Amino acid sequence: MGTIGDPGPPPLGARHGQPGSTVTTVNPLTQLTLAELRTRTSVKWRQYAGDVLPLWVAEMDVPLAAPVAEALHDAVGRGDTGYAYGTAYAEALGDFAARRWGWSDLPVDRVTVVPDVMLGIVEVLRLLTGPGDAVVFCSPVYPPFYAFVSHADRRVVEVPLGADRRMDLSALDEAFRRARAGGRRAVFLLCNPHNPTGVVHRRDELDALADLAGRHGVRVVSDEIHAPLVLPGARFTPYLTVPGAEDAFALLSASKAWNLAGLKSALVVAGRHAVADLRRMPEEVGHGPSHLGVIAHTAAFRDGGDWLDRLLDGLDENRELLGTLLARYAPTIRHHRPEGTYLAWLDCTALGIASGPVGDEPGVVTDVAGPAALFLDRARVALSSGHVFGTGGAGFVRLNFATSPEILTEAVTRMGRAVTEHHGTAG
Ligand SMILES: Cc1ncc(COP(=O)(O)O)c(C=O)c1O
Repeated sequence: MGTIGDPGPPPLGARHGQPGSTVTTVNPLTQLTLAELRTRTSVKWRQYAGDVLPLWVAEMDVPLAAPVAEALHDAVGRGDTGYAYGTAYAEALGDFAARRWGWSDLPVDRVTVVPDVMLGIVEVLRLLTGPGDAVVFCSPVYPPFYAFVSHADRRVVEVPLGADRRMDLSALDEAFRRARAGGRRAVFLLCNPHNPTGVVHRRDELDALADLAGRHGVRVVSDEIHAPLVLPGARFTPYLTVPGAEDAFALLSASKAWNLAGLKSALVVAGRHAVADLRRMPEEVGHGPSHLGVIAHTAAFRDGGDWLDRLLDGLDENRELLGTLLARYAPTIRHHRPEGTYLAWLDCTALGIASGPVGDEPGVVTDVAGPAALFLDRARVALSSGHVFGTGGAGFVRLNFATSPEILTEAVTRMGRAVTEHHGTAG
């Protein structure tokens, strides 16, 4: 990896490794040129003008993992494009979870395929709560948590993360007590690893959470979509492996780690004591997932481990590179190395830019205000604006570093120039 002061990274158009290579020793983040990426029609590449480097929404700048591409080509070649069926996806996740996380107790009869993680969360909320009941989560957090929970007629209860960016258990204790007042049902929606901070909750924290939720009778729903993306130095603990979590639910998917958001499908896993709840899930929910999505996600969990390891190596390098670049070009931006995900949560409060919400409520992912507006206007770099992540997000931006080192370098260099100009004009 090039560091600042070295001859520097190759130009943005350069390509490393073999074009279209299926060899799994290459870093997937260095396979596509900027020109190739700009031909993409997904939201990441089309939301902003052609001179903007898009480091916002959680899509990765990688080609498909070869086993996933082969499974899709094979299905298309055979015209196997009907409705999804069977337990292959659940089995593939079960094997992956046992290998990677030592989670050996994941039988297929406790797993249901859903269209995607957010719709799966909504269906689980419908099983566990009624209209007006509280759904508690820690902010700042993935913005659609706000929108989906309120559109499902549940009440959003934010509990800000502590100053150490970890769950504040005494604040949760109080929030759970209030949420359950009058005997109302309540859910805690856990995000592990946490988007946008990249915090991976430790086993001791999850033990304490399970104990607290059990004492209050709050059901936990754990969004583990980023679980395969835990980076060196941290360890992922599946919530359902924690004592006291037997009545909880977890949502998993290959979507983030293998860049399959456009191939819709995800899995709901019920804890041992939540099976009766899962059985109440309406049959039509299972009509939503895409058969090609199920095929792709199954191949990813079953055969995509080598590719994932190369990706994690590349993300780890980019995480390091980002720290170096920020220290050099934009030292007034503070950040902590994320433990998981490919998202960096950058504290830009020292820039002193007011970050008034441009919408009425958090959750509108395309809203741009405060520091994100500065970087879009002056640096032509698109980041996610912190204020849409809820309380604690104003003055921050979220940067997606699942891109090539060259694009990352160019983006942070431009951001640094914008910060310098801003400090100059701000006096
Ligand atoms: C924490 C979290 N949950 C859910 C999603 C969306 O998942 P899906 O597209 O499967 O609904 C994302 C996407 O980035 C996410 O970060």
